[in-house]
Amino acid sequence: MPGGARGPARWSVSEIDDGARLLGGLVPDVVVVETFTSDPAAAVLPEEAALVAAAPPERRRAFAAARSCARRALVQLGVAPGPILLDPDAPAWAYRAPRWPAGVVGSMTHCDGYHAAAVARSATVAAVGIDAEPNAPLPAVVRDLVTLDEERAALARLSGARPDVAWDRLVFSAKESVYKAWFPLTRRWLDFGDCLVRPGLDGTFTAELRVRPPVFAGVAGRRLTGRWRTTTRGGRAYVATALTVPAFGAGGGAVR
Ligand SMILES: CC(C)(COP(=O)(O)OP(=O)(O)OC[C@H]1O[C@@H](n2cnc3c(N)ncnc32)[C@H](O)[C@@H]1OP(=O)(O)O)[C@@H](O)C(=O)NCCC(=O)NCCS
Repeated sequence: MPGGARGPARWSVSEIDDGARLLGGLVPDVVVVETFTSDPAAAVLPEEAALVAAAPPERRRAFAAARSCARRALVQLGVAPGPILLDPDAPAWAYRAPRWPAGVVGSMTHCDGYHAAAVARSATVAAVGIDAEPNAPLPAVVRDLVTLDEERAALARLSGARPDVAWDRLVFSAKESVYKAWFPLTRRWLDFGDCLVRPGLDGTFTAELRVRPPVFAGVAGRRLTGRWRTTTRGGRAYVATALTVPAFGAGGGAVR
């Protein structure tokens, strides 16, 4: 039972409507629920409705789909699913940061028909970040804004080995995942230039945080590790990344 897991257990649970996986099973110790379909039953809870009341219908649908994934994931984790509101301690520039139930960490993503949520026990996982993107190159101007020289230098070599992967988009996604794990731990901004992502051909990546003073500490130091995967579904190609920061006493890492 995932909800009872403690310590450095390496379980990973995922739920998917019909078999294809993008983020499911990618990183251990988390429950992932993901969907490539637009679930007509996905609905916001009354307490959540005000958060997207003024948003366009597409945004409301995406919000509801990811929240629905999150509630299904919480059930699998053994936690009563309720409204997922906003982090009340987040500064205005991070107003969308979600607040998870006590004892739970989580992350959500939506992109181009795909929605997912990941949750974990905070006793095991200090933070989790997930992100999904179209597996297509970034516009050059965006690529140059979100990548470092060293990252751009690696792109040609990686593309030569795996031309089916949009490596610049993967680096961007990894940075988004890093930020989604970083923010709830620090409530600080992290710039794209503060993080150096090194993707591996083996489905892993490392992210080196270049921030002072260091707020991530412990065995991993400022070096976080994550995983990536691509998949194609309904004619759409996706690339996704995920990472966890292990909690103290649960396999290593520490924060703050
Ligand atoms: C917040 C941000 C990461 C969202 O990413 P995105 O690719 O636009 O969208 P996704 O669908 O993948 O993720 C959105 C979800 O992230 C979550 N999110 C939003 N702000 C967040 C924050 N500050 N911390 C953690 N999670 C956050 C929310 O759950 C949101 O979905 P919701 O609004 O429906 O609840 C992005 O818009 C952003 O602000 N990035 C700037 C900072 C950054 O990425 N720095 C990189 C440092 S290396």
